[in-house]
Amino acid sequence: MITSKQLREKWIKFYESKGHINIGAVSLIGDGTTGVMFNVAGMQPLMPYLLGKKHPMGTRLCNVQGCVRTVDIDSVGDATHFTFFEMMGNWSLGDYFKKEKTAWSFELLTEVFGFDKDKICSTVFEGNESVPKDTETAELLKGLGIKEENIFFLDKKNNWWELEGTVGTPCGPDNEWFYPRHDNKCCDTCDVNCDCGRYVEIGNDVYMQYKKLEGGKYGELENKNVDTGFGLDRLLLFLNGLTDGYKTDLFIDTIKLLESISGKNYDEDLDAQKAMRIIADHTRTSVMLIGDKNGILPSNTGAGYILRRLLRRAIRYCKNLAIDSESICEVAKIFIEKIYDEAYPLLVEKEDYILDEIRKEIKKFEATLAAGMKEFDKCIFGIERKNAFMSSKDASFVPETTISGKQAFRLYDTFGFPLELTIELATEKGFGVDEEGFNVAFKEHQEISKAQSAAAKGGLTEQTETTTKYHTATHIMLAGLRKMFGTKTEQKGSNITDERMRFDFNLDHKMTAEELKELQDFVNTVISKKIPVERVEMPYNKAIEQGAYGVFNPQSEDEIVSVYIIGDVDKQICGGPHICNTGDLGEFIIKKEESSSSGVRRIKAILK
Ligand code: ALA
Repeated sequence: MITSKQLREKWIKFYESKGHINIGAVSLIGDGTTGVMFNVAGMQPLMPYLLGKKHPMGTRLCNVQGCVRTVDIDSVGDATHFTFFEMMGNWSLGDYFKKEKTAWSFELLTEVFGFDKDKICSTVFEGNESVPKDTETAELLKGLGIKEENIFFLDKKNNWWELEGTVGTPCGPDNEWFYPRHDNKCCDTCDVNCDCGRYVEIGNDVYMQYKKLEGGKYGELENKNVDTGFGLDRLLLFLNGLTDGYKTDLFIDTIKLLESISGKNYDEDLDAQKAMRIIADHTRTSVMLIGDKNGILPSNTGAGYILRRLLRRAIRYCKNLAIDSESICEVAKIFIEKIYDEAYPLLVEKEDYILDEIRKEIKKFEATLAAGMKEFDKCIFGIERKNAFMSSKDASFVPETTISGKQAFRLYDTFGFPLELTIELATEKGFGVDEEGFNVAFKEHQEISKAQSAAAKGGLTEQTETTTKYHTATHIMLAGLRKMFGTKTEQKGSNITDERMRFDFNLDHKMTAEELKELQDFVNTVISKKIPVERVEMPYNKAIEQGAYGVFNPQSEDEIVSVYIIGDVDKQICGGPHICNTGDLGEFIIKKEESSSSGVRRIKAILK
């Protein structure tokens, strides 16, 4: 049995014995110089030195550095993925190279940690047009006693390390170390390349002798560096003969607490297990991000948004476990007071602040979560209801399985659901989310907000007589489109300002000049007929029976809806408001017809 506290110490002691200086850890929050939001690797703060600048502490350095990686946040819930983890690192800044490094990594793993050398697997770079095959490392590994069949040459995707997308970053081929979590092969060919999860990467030695240039090219660095990173969380698991990262001393107390609060069994109830893992992992990362020396708070942008996502996801999983969201604070306390108190004393100092901020976010989200879940269910119900209805009328109808961008945006904007949460909930129900549509709705919302604040400054209110007129005009125009192109034509989006209307609808071709004229004439004829616009309320199913249509997902078949009727021209389910008589609209002029997205056309028109 080895504890996390002992493991940190062992790492530092070992590398100190090889002439390294412990440089300590830096903030988890990116300083903006690398374009990365969080510190994702121990090498990040050392970039200038790996590129050649002289480090004040020398050429052999080591530390234990916290890292936050949220790219595979969706993998959290399994046994070995975490959004926060500690990377134990050491560096040669133009000092020693492959010979020493392979020997020390091997010595540490086998002699200090007692790993079985016959089970250790190592992968090295197979080479490509710019960098040669790393036979040198492979030979060194063999010489140390690693079995030849446990050494694998892999491609750039596997054995090349660089900070993604960052030009100017130091990088290079790496030598990765793997160990099996257990001896049960899933099949005869089960090895490092198998995705059954038996082999887990425990660390890597990057031979950082290149620099990423523009256009995917690489230039040689003057220094031949080594950049080593071993994951503390994962090593701890192996060193204690465990197969589950949540059973190490870093997590076990939080899991026990969640078991006792929920009355559910972590080992037996797999849904509860996933929820407990997610709550524990996300709470830990949130504590670290709020309690960091450059701490952040939940917000709607950048790093703050990631933090919000983590906390809200944890809150949502508290609901799955049927426990109070405040339990997150109890979990947080364990991390602060018991697990990271020595390695991160600042957390203890900032404890009240951290817990307060978590509590605030819980309160904020709780206020809308229940209503948001109802709204979400309503979306799904509405789609299913529409599918059932349409299928009963038309056997060839293809059921919809996507939550619209608009609905996802409403969940985000009104109920505080991060898009990713909606996607996750939808996936659980076998549905997708129109992410592009969400982005469009998001942008439109920003535009409207801007326009509204501009209007507010000018003393105008949001709903003007002019925008109401435009709204009625869209109904008449859609009726015209459906008359011309059939009732499959539906509204796909609408944006109205005091100056114009912009309306999106599905159509498989660009409208011709004749078609546009026909449509414009249709609307103007309806205007000239001075038809009263009537509003009636009726149950949803009755409205549909009577031929009403509209972008509307009912909560139940007999939900009372409002229907706007324009003589025998149009009957739409709509929240309004509308003008009382078409005669008040003035002249309708189409200004532009263009593509909006695939299969969707956009018309811009004005009233004069
Ligand atoms: N920079 C290497 C990593 O992050 C060590 O895995």
